[in-house]
Amino acid sequence: MRWLLDRVIIIQLWVLAALAIKNPIITGWNPDPSVIRVGDEYFIATSSFEYWPSTPIYKSKDLANWELYSHAFTKPSQAQLYGVPTGAGTWAPTLSLVNGKYYMASMTRWTYDPVARVWPRVMWVSSRDLKTWSDPVWGDAWGIDPSLFQDQATQKVYLNFMAPNNNADRIWGIYQCEVDVDSGRCVGEYRSLWNGTLPHTSSSRPEGPKMFRRDQWYYLLIAEGGTDDLHRATIARSTSPEGPWEAAPNNPILFNGAYGYDNLTVQSTGHATLFDTPEGESYAVFLARRKTNGTSPLGRESFLAPVQWKDGWPIVNGGEPIRLSQSFGNTTDQVSPPKPFTDNFDRANLDPSWYQLRIPYTQNFEIKKNGANGITFKPNVFGLSDRDTPAAILRKQKSLNMTFSAQLLPTKSGLGYGETIGISAYLSELQHQDIAVSGCVNSTGMCIFTRLMMNGTVEYDQVKLNSSTIPSDLTLHIRAQPLSYTLGYSLGMNGTKYWLKELSSSWLAFAPTNWFVFEGTSFAVFATGTGKPWPPHAPEVGFSRVTETYFEENIPDYDKW
Ligand SMILES: *[C@@H]1O[C@H](CO)[C@@H](O)[C@H](O)[C@H]1NC(C)=O
Ligand SMILES: *[C@@H]1O[C@H](CO)[C@@H](O)[C@H](O)[C@H]1NC(C)=O
Ligand SMILES: *[C@@H]1O[C@H](CO)[C@@H](O)[C@H](O)[C@H]1NC(C)=O
Ligand SMILES: *[C@@H]1O[C@H](CO)[C@@H](O)[C@H](O)[C@H]1NC(C)=O
Ligand SMILES: *[C@@H]1O[C@H](CO)[C@@H](O)[C@H](O)[C@H]1NC(C)=O
Ligand SMILES: *[C@@H]1O[C@H](CO)[C@@H](O)[C@H](O)[C@H]1NC(C)=O
Ligand SMILES: *[C@@H]1O[C@H](CO)[C@@H](O)[C@H](O)[C@H]1NC(C)=O
Ligand SMILES: *[C@@H]1O[C@H](CO)[C@@H](O)[C@H](O)[C@H]1NC(C)=O
Ligand SMILES: *[C@@H]1O[C@H](CO)[C@@H](O)[C@H](O)[C@H]1NC(C)=O
Repeated sequence: MRWLLDRVIIIQLWVLAALAIKNPIITGWNPDPSVIRVGDEYFIATSSFEYWPSTPIYKSKDLANWELYSHAFTKPSQAQLYGVPTGAGTWAPTLSLVNGKYYMASMTRWTYDPVARVWPRVMWVSSRDLKTWSDPVWGDAWGIDPSLFQDQATQKVYLNFMAPNNNADRIWGIYQCEVDVDSGRCVGEYRSLWNGTLPHTSSSRPEGPKMFRRDQWYYLLIAEGGTDDLHRATIARSTSPEGPWEAAPNNPILFNGAYGYDNLTVQSTGHATLFDTPEGESYAVFLARRKTNGTSPLGRESFLAPVQWKDGWPIVNGGEPIRLSQSFGNTTDQVSPPKPFTDNFDRANLDPSWYQLRIPYTQNFEIKKNGANGITFKPNVFGLSDRDTPAAILRKQKSLNMTFSAQLLPTKSGLGYGETIGISAYLSELQHQDIAVSGCVNSTGMCIFTRLMMNGTVEYDQVKLNSSTIPSDLTLHIRAQPLSYTLGYSLGMNGTKYWLKELSSSWLAFAPTNWFVFEGTSFAVFATGTGKPWPPHAPEVGFSRVTETYFEENIPDYDKW
């Protein structure tokens, strides 16, 4: 006990809790997880929409602790994300092994704007090491959520995906064709596989098909019910990968909203993949939301649950709903809360956990300039509200209880109105909450301003900086809690924090009418000329350091606050 106390004092900022595996296994928005086991290691790919590089792949040895391993799309020849709106881009990857090589099937959609009438395109890339990926092969089928499955009995490769029955009534279902992985062409019959378990209408969305074999059965695991609270996993089996399919007697096999349990914090459980450990234990990886007071600012995260098999059917989590307090498995403990993250931008390359929005046309930041620490921006006309690539880098918000802080580099002169450098809690180009420095509105000098976006309205407030240059210790902060975000500043990373504005976290989980939001919140550091090129007389701007501090997350099992 004495030893334990000493240890707690030494590590102060975090505790090693004896939790084994706790959910979410990958925190921060990481929807549509697809898992593959390689020996005694596991890899999960998740959707990243308009973020670049695209489609992160995480690795774990113990199922509890996951590290970012690679990104599937790192070259513009692989995915074109120019001008894509929030929610479009690339999504729903599926990892599989075909002819001894790893494949990742995915899809891209330039926009879902109904006027543009651009449809999703199915594609796949391949890799020997899950790190470096090929250019894509484009499938000639029309649909979303593609996955490749090779039948070891015949070596045939099937493309399974969600598609409309035709281009007139567009009733979506799970479709299949045998495919040539090298050309992308369907070489077998294009067939309707399964329409799921819910009433089948034009609004039904049987999606995310994953096919696997276990003993004598082929299984077809899908998601149904739409992306919101009714999202669930259902399964069918057959003696052939081509069907016919028999639905499980216990469908949906995963659905937290069932049985009146829409009061649980964990909701939207679905889009699952099943896998076995080398010891023969089965698990499901799936997406779910943590709903806090009805809202989910972190979006959809990756979850895990144990699976038992009975009479050739899977039972997820013993048939019980998923609760955050549950822990399971027999592995290394998860570190909770995680260690603080600090980036001094003192390495040649940006840490891979940083993203940009869409594919940059030109490099708009520079790190470790002239041997000094820090990141400097080459701000352009674009800002966080544009469907372009502003001079901004973003990290996913990883905890519901954390602080994101960024210390500015000092400047040699002042900023004029519109010349802006700051940080943001960013959900989309339609919804981001900024605190930044710029020339003041309606007066001379520089101001620290907050700019909050709530349903199309913008609330702008400013305080005078009282300095003709940005001082070397000015630090901007965003304190994120389950129900609120608070924006403030200090002089020095550890100086007294002055909090300027607070807003409900529901404004970081909000899609204006006619828009979708499939992502969760990220934190951005950014600079912009606000519609104008950065003027030659304006100073160089940037950040010397970014720090994330995580606190304990005591999120209740039931959404009661
Ligand atoms: C699925 O629904 C479509 C559209 O109604 C229908 O054409 C197709 O035969 C159905 N497929 C199966 C496997 O029942
Ligand atoms: C949640 O809903 C279930 C099913 O309706 C009910 O039995 C349970 O009492 C509720 N729990 C809480 C904490 O509200
Ligand atoms: C929960 O959300 C409702 C609005 O849906 C709001 O009125 C209430 O104040 C929130 N509760 C807390 C504890 O913030
Ligand atoms: C947990 O795993 C360790 C090492 O693999 C093993 O020695 C131990 O018996 C296991 N404990 C349980 C409860 O399964
Ligand atoms: C700037 O002045 C205009 C006109 O008086 C006023 O409407 C606006 O609220 C002012 N903005 C700020 C941030 O003070
Ligand atoms: C957002 O504004 C629209 C249009 O005015 C309105 O219909 C909707 O109810 C508002 N939503 C929220 C959450 O305030
Ligand atoms: C600048 O001075 C004004 C007036 O004294 C004060 O209200 C404001 O907080 C100061 N700004 C900062 C960033 O300290
Ligand atoms: C801020 O405080 C932390 C914890 O006390 C310390 O580790 C860190 O060095 C301090 N940073 C600065 C810039 O003083
Ligand atoms: C967030 O962290 C603070 C500071 O450690 C703590 O007081 C608070 O209870 C935490 N909130 C939740 C919901 O865990």
